[in-house]
Amino acid sequence: MKLSSTFSVLTVATLVHGHGYLTIPSSRTRLGSEAGLDSCPECSILEPVSAWPDLDVAPVGRSGPCGYNARVSIDYNQPRAGLWGNSPVARYSPGQTIDVQWCVDNNGDHGGMFAYRICQDQALVKKFLTPGYLPTDEEKQAAEDCFERGTLPCTDVSGQNCGFSPDCSPGQPCWRNDWFTCNAFNAGDRRACQGVDNAPRGSCYTSIAGGFPVTKKIKLPNINVGHTLLSFKWNSFQTGQIYLSCADIAIGEGSGTVDPPASTTFSTVVTPGASCAAAPSVPVVFNEKATTAYGQNIKVVGSIAALGSWNPANAIPLSAAGYTNSNPVWSTTLNLAPGTSFTYKFIRVDSNGAVTWESDPNRSYTVPAACQGQSVAVDSTWR
Ligand SMILES: *[C@@H]1O[C@H](CO)[C@@H](O)[C@H](O)[C@H]1NC(C)=O
Repeated sequence: MKLSSTFSVLTVATLVHGHGYLTIPSSRTRLGSEAGLDSCPECSILEPVSAWPDLDVAPVGRSGPCGYNARVSIDYNQPRAGLWGNSPVARYSPGQTIDVQWCVDNNGDHGGMFAYRICQDQALVKKFLTPGYLPTDEEKQAAEDCFERGTLPCTDVSGQNCGFSPDCSPGQPCWRNDWFTCNAFNAGDRRACQGVDNAPRGSCYTSIAGGFPVTKKIKLPNINVGHTLLSFKWNSFQTGQIYLSCADIAIGEGSGTVDPPASTTFSTVVTPGASCAAAPSVPVVFNEKATTAYGQNIKVVGSIAALGSWNPANAIPLSAAGYTNSNPVWSTTLNLAPGTSFTYKFIRVDSNGAVTWESDPNRSYTVPAACQGQSVAVDSTWR
């Protein structure tokens, strides 16, 4: 929504600056800081610009959807070998609700609104995933426009408090304050974004005065694109500044085919080894979306004994406990040894025993290594 800005850049430039960046999942900026290249991760600033209350009027310029840090001359839109942009730091399922966090410096909580965005035009995003490639300003703006269209509403997460929300209109109390999670400036000792987690100063890293984490949930779109970007944008209310950072994530496995294969999700991206013990067997959660009529059941059958050795009579039934009209998901969990490879299909069994098989090809899966306590989700849709 376009509104005319009531702030002039000259007025706000004299105020103390706000500072913040995406920390979970690890943004490229965080990785730059942890690699010792970026001495001020909270300083990737697009300025001076009209940042408020019109959230998308400012051209994104060289900052792009991933941010440019002028203090250290790092353009985070450009993947750097061995450092960032080359592979996802976290893997999620299509439509999954996930925890995200950004970090605001103690000297820089200046209100405004922050947004998490996903651009669903993968051709635009790929410019930012190409090893070594520096996107042009035109490519940055095209992607930024796409990320703006892909803002993830707070209200998509059921049960989340959305006190200030982009869904609100002028005149409503939730209109344009500290969207979409921060408290009001007058919220006592839990004012503004500091009050969201209420964690001690320094709970996340900023170089200036110590950071306060702001943890929220977002619901990812139901897309299976594999490696893509989650972009974070904070429009400051009190200063003419916009903060941008992005994280490399995977949503599904991404196949580019018409019928995407099953996708996998780790609860965390920790791989067994130095930091955790490998699990001897991994809970594999099969989630199959299949609209069924009363009396019909969904089962899974495949090439290993645990999946009935392709005999429908020995297929593993899925549960409809999570089934709703809008999300018709059948699920079951099997404990399988890491490294187990198999092919499989889902079948629909009518009340009279008649079996309908999914269409070809057979699905295939290899159980990954995982840490103790982790599970792996395999999400798919009836075909
Ligand atoms: C699927 O697997 C079964 C059992 O191995 C096999 O008979 C069938 O030909 C496979 N289907 C395809 C399309 O490969």
